[in-house]
Amino acid sequence: MSKITNCLIKKDTSCIPVWFMRQAGRYLPEFREIRSKNPNFIKLCLNSDLSSEITLQPLDRFDLDAAIIFSDILMVPYGLGQTVEFIKGKGPKLSEFNMKVFLENKEDNFTKKLNPVYQAITKTRKKLSREKSLISFIGAPWTLIVYMMGLRQDKKKINLENIKKDFKRDVVLEKLNKFLCLHIKNQMNAGADVVQIFDSWAGIIPDDEINDYCFTPNKKLVDYCKKINLPVVCFPKGIGVNYKKFLEIVKPHGINIDYDIDPKWAKDNLKNVCLQGGMDPKILFEDEKKINLEVDKYLDNFRNTPYIFNLGHGLLPETNPDILAKIINRVKSYK
Ligand code: CP3
Repeated sequence: MSKITNCLIKKDTSCIPVWFMRQAGRYLPEFREIRSKNPNFIKLCLNSDLSSEITLQPLDRFDLDAAIIFSDILMVPYGLGQTVEFIKGKGPKLSEFNMKVFLENKEDNFTKKLNPVYQAITKTRKKLSREKSLISFIGAPWTLIVYMMGLRQDKKKINLENIKKDFKRDVVLEKLNKFLCLHIKNQMNAGADVVQIFDSWAGIIPDDEINDYCFTPNKKLVDYCKKINLPVVCFPKGIGVNYKKFLEIVKPHGINIDYDIDPKWAKDNLKNVCLQGGMDPKILFEDEKKINLEVDKYLDNFRNTPYIFNLGHGLLPETNPDILAKIINRVKSYK
């Protein structure tokens, strides 16, 4: 059993495993080098040799306890027939959502389209030692809907009235659930031993809709993971005190806290779960003394509770890789 699955399943507190969201990404010069020769991001994700190589880049440099497969949550909308582009400085842009096309999707075709992602997982697993996890991931239904329906224009507020007139919530959620379960299963069969569910936009769901758009869809996915014995970590970013309710309803093996969550509050309120992450990725731009203080704050706070060191969101492209090496050393030598 890897250190991370030990922590998630057995709630082992004897060591603090460490990995970082977006550990394979633009802050690494070796990633930028490959990326500069591959301007089409989706095509790069579908090149299993290159995506496996990118997945392993951070592990060649650092003593991390997991690799996270180099892919994207938007590969699922791609697999379901939307085109996905990444416009520099603007983020992702998807072709217009078409309900008819969406509902006509068949499982065989989806698996075929995303087959290179699964191949990349198999190739990576072969090169990774047993004590390291290979983490797969999906976007939660709400976060995918935000991108699929182009609701992301206004960062703070989302007007659900903007959702298309022919949008049938329960039908869309059901269909997404089916394909997300398939994507989870395909990734596990290919060699992934953990899955993380990113609900990056959960924080903008109106309070009276959070049950239907966040808790229930995440619970369905977590129940599926439990059924197939796959450890699962949820990340409902930005939901504040609703983290407590989320945990009581969804009950994943692990939960990643974001940088707005007070770690002390998390320790007191989020029980019977392995906690992960929390530290603000912007702290990594501060001087070493400040960084160390902040790292220690999380390590001291979560002493004797099952905890996986990570951040409260993904690593930023401006991060200095050498800082990461120092943080990992500090976590590993913490007594
Ligand atoms: O190292 C890893 O964490 C694994 C790879 C990974 C990527 N995206 C690669 C990527 C993971 C886990 C994701 C998840 C993802 N993708 C999320 C959830 C986490 C979060 O950040 O909230 C979301 C919302 C997306 C959608 C997405 N993909 C956006 C908004 C962007 C553009 C913004 C940006 O940071 O550039 C991407 C592109 C993307 N996905 C990059 C990487 C390395 C950058 C691509 C580039 O080189 O330009």
